[in-house]
Amino acid sequence: MERAVALLEAGEVVAIPTETVYGLAGDATNGEAVARIFEAKGRPRLNPLIAHVSGMVMASGIARLDPLSEKLAQAFWPGPLTLVLPLRQDASIHPLVTAGLDTVAVRMPQGFGSALIARLGRPLAAPSANSSGRITATTAEAVEADLGSRIPLIVDGGPTTVGLESTIVKVEDGKVRLLRPGGVAAEVIEAAAGQTVVRGAGGGERVEAPGMLASHYAPKASVRVGAASVLPGEALLAFGQVRAENADRAVAMLNLSPSGNLREAAANLFSHMQALDRSGAPTIAVESIPATGLGEAINDRLRRAAAPRDQ
Ligand code: TXA
Ligand code: MG
Repeated sequence: MERAVALLEAGEVVAIPTETVYGLAGDATNGEAVARIFEAKGRPRLNPLIAHVSGMVMASGIARLDPLSEKLAQAFWPGPLTLVLPLRQDASIHPLVTAGLDTVAVRMPQGFGSALIARLGRPLAAPSANSSGRITATTAEAVEADLGSRIPLIVDGGPTTVGLESTIVKVEDGKVRLLRPGGVAAEVIEAAAGQTVVRGAGGGERVEAPGMLASHYAPKASVRVGAASVLPGEALLAFGQVRAENADRAVAMLNLSPSGNLREAAANLFSHMQALDRSGAPTIAVESIPATGLGEAINDRLRRAAAPRDQ
């Protein structure tokens, strides 16, 4: 904690654990620190970042919360929900964080992240701690393997509990729009909001989420989803009790959740993909995963990992 605070105050970046995934954090009010984040990730510059806060007061200092957003914040913070909100004119957030938009994505993380932000007294910009387009890191070891040579400190909080990035929503005209499925299932948000959520980026609106880029979260191997059988040379990412045909010929196999539990599957998703990638198999075949609850976000990540790489 002490070393992280000192580095962040000096405008450095630090990898920190959150309940969703590891974040590459920098002082959101310091343009150089935010630039260092982009540099370390090798990320295209125009993608906006999430401003992480330690409480409602800090959130209200940077963004305006309408009553429905406020209700969602009360229901899910601290936790894996990000709200896209109108940016306050006088907010101290550096424009590199918002990529010049007049909205800002805000989230209050659980545990170490919140404690660190409270100590610092300023919001932290923190994308997932992986180089651009690579698999999201859910352990300190994965961060070390990817970014270790480029950043001064990784805070090891063990494997993250949720294992998927936060769900991103935006309230528009009293409706909740789902911009990115994630750690809180849409159904759970619907129950708290008392309405159904609208899916997709919205009419005529610019799609700002890099998660929306087709080829994202990509391992080195190609990914084949909904595999009913395993082809020669393939590794297998399994789910549940029933195996794909010819599973015994897989060069490596890991099961996201032998009991078919989607939360367990989410927590294992990125680390299992990384492990199968290390097997050297040219293709990872993935068994079908139900699209309900957290399965929506899991399938979204898998589709992006499976998308052609040349876009
Ligand atoms: O769980 C998480 O959300 C993790 C942890 C570290 O908190 N962070 C994370 O950040 O996933 P990142 O930068 O990988 O993803 C942030 C997403 C991007 O898809 C970005 O485009 C979107 O949030 N975003 C940020 N600001 C936005 C805005 N003003 N409007 C729409 N989307 C926005
Ligand atoms: Mg990411």
